[in-house]
Amino acid sequence: MSRTITVTERVGSDVPRIAESPAGIVWETGLQNPGLDAFVSGELLRLARGGARIIVSIGGETLEEYVRMTSALQGRPEVAAIEIHLSGRDDELDRAVLGAHADRLNEIVGAVARMSLVPVFAKLPGACDDTVGLARTAVRAGATGVTLLASPPALGLEATRDRPRIGIVTGWLSGPALKPVTLRAVFDVAQALPAVPVIASGGVRTGEDAVECLLAGAWAVQVGTATLTDPAAAVTVAQGIIRRLKTAGLASPAGLRGLLRPAEHAAAEENPAPAP
Ligand SMILES: Cc1cc2nc3c(=O)[nH]c(=O)nc-3n(C[C@H](O)[C@H](O)[C@H](O)COP(=O)(O)O)c2cc1C
Repeated sequence: MSRTITVTERVGSDVPRIAESPAGIVWETGLQNPGLDAFVSGELLRLARGGARIIVSIGGETLEEYVRMTSALQGRPEVAAIEIHLSGRDDELDRAVLGAHADRLNEIVGAVARMSLVPVFAKLPGACDDTVGLARTAVRAGATGVTLLASPPALGLEATRDRPRIGIVTGWLSGPALKPVTLRAVFDVAQALPAVPVIASGGVRTGEDAVECLLAGAWAVQVGTATLTDPAAAVTVAQGIIRRLKTAGLASPAGLRGLLRPAEHAAAEENPAPAP
């Protein structure tokens, strides 16, 4: 999985870019990246060394930017899928969060999905009113699936020094604090759209976290913040999933989807009614 790439280079936001908060971090990178051309001729090839195929995250502030990014990635053998970053500003419609509005989501996802030869995932914004509604819109527009969720907006302050904890002042929340929010979003969307592939993102740091996401209905998980303190976190998470699969006698993570029991059923099994 790549960081989000934009058409032109972004130098990123003022440092510090990351600050600790209880059970997570507040961060803002300003989507620092080398720009599309440099990414395709450099970073993409480096990421794909050893045969990996990469999910590339594309971001933009106009429809044309998304179309240009999609067009440039077509036919690249290194690209396994496109994830659309939708949490940035919408320059054309002068809105704070491009993907929080169904009309725009439909337009952007529709354009990318029509052009793309690889699967397309819409990464829904972290603080939206109607996650299920937006997921439905994205899928109707042609997305293969959805990534749930992007980080919600956050602010870290330092009371003793009367100042914000990150350079650009406002940022996003990531890390363990997000896990219950991720589980709820995944569960709601999986219940409403059971055939739609959902990638869980937010608060996954252990194999158990990942198994919970799969039980809630995810098809795959992403590991972000955990890799900052343990670069091998994704491997640990994968090993944890494999351990659970072996214990349960399952051949694939898909077997864990749908195993989540509705509350009444689970309660009845644990406290069976006394025999008459
Ligand atoms: C330092 C940092 C940089 C990130 N950069 C991106 C990015 O470029 N594009 C994106 O869609 N999400 C980005 N994210 C968000 C993560 O992909 C993920 O959605 C979020 O951190 C929640 O997952 P986690 O709790 O596992 O970190 C970034 C997160 C962090 C902490």
